[in-house]
Amino acid sequence: MERIFSGVQPSGVLHIGNYLGAIKNWVNLQNDHQCIFCVVDLHAITVSQDPKELLKKTVEVAKIYLAAGIDPKKSTIFVQSHVKEHAELAWILNTITKIPELERMTQFKDKAKDGKKEASMGLFDYPVLMAADILLYKTVGVPVGEDQVQHIELTRDLAQRFNNKFGEIFTVPKALVRKEGARIMGLDDPIKKMSKSAASQYNYISLTDSPDDVREKIKKAVTDSGKEIVFSQDKPALANLLTIYSLLGGQTIKDIEAKYKDKGYADFKKDLAEVVVEFLEPFQEKYNALDDNEVLEILREGAKKAQVIASQTMSEVKKAVGLIE
Ligand code: AMP
Ligand code: TRP
Repeated sequence: MERIFSGVQPSGVLHIGNYLGAIKNWVNLQNDHQCIFCVVDLHAITVSQDPKELLKKTVEVAKIYLAAGIDPKKSTIFVQSHVKEHAELAWILNTITKIPELERMTQFKDKAKDGKKEASMGLFDYPVLMAADILLYKTVGVPVGEDQVQHIELTRDLAQRFNNKFGEIFTVPKALVRKEGARIMGLDDPIKKMSKSAASQYNYISLTDSPDDVREKIKKAVTDSGKEIVFSQDKPALANLLTIYSLLGGQTIKDIEAKYKDKGYADFKKDLAEVVVEFLEPFQEKYNALDDNEVLEILREGAKKAQVIASQTMSEVKKAVGLIE
């Protein structure tokens, strides 16, 4: 079975963009692939984190994986820092990565923004650690949202460069990006992607939002000029809301357009809020029923399984590079 690897950072809140862009696809993949899903805490600390919060968020993200339908009997779920080979391989990949390759990364440019002088080496090196995550497991497919594709391109380049120099060790992975949902936009600004680090909570719907929060956020969501409910590139706010409606409600955009042919934004938004609430209710029920200690046990077991593969790859890498084991 082809191997799949992906991860989410335990920072900020997980929102429906994370679910639709990434996690939803993971659930589908686990039936016919060997899946490894990681909570990437070493990535989270590339920007400042409150240590207590980080611990809490790490367990929360694992619970979100489980509540979304990731089955630990089928897939491996673990925490990145439990498997030391991630940091070890990142160091080796650093030695074949060129500085301009990392300077080009748009996520770095976004996150460092005006504070480039304040940005840490870790933030700069983030894509190399991500390459290590993927290559350690000889991953074939990486299901992610569109914003991660540039990082996977770099991963492919590093894999090829390493293989050319030291012998065929790494599999060259490909990004698995679904057309729909790959880029869910902010509710308060449909030009920017929905983001867990957004300044306003009206940007996103968190997976743990209450029904009343959902209703309020959708009511406040910006819309475009005009009255008609139609999907169009020049109506980015409405296109985004229609995408969310379609993916969470399991109806095609065409059917939704037909349903609101003679209705306005108010009806559409009211129903959309209920579609989101109906999706979140069973999800949150499962989430709340999970026991932290059981989740920690699943993560420890997952790390053991991941480490078997990771240490095997590391030993091949070390031999190839000329490091004494
Ligand atoms: P992050 O929040 O950066 O840790 O992202 C976790 C996963 O969610 C990655 O696969 C992202 O590509 C995906 N993702 C994040 N934001 C969005 C969004 N607004 N729309 C679709 N996918 C997203
Ligand atoms: N950089 C990814 C994000 O912010 C998270 C991530 C880290 C990841 N390592 C990964 C995703 C390996 C896929 C594969 O979304």
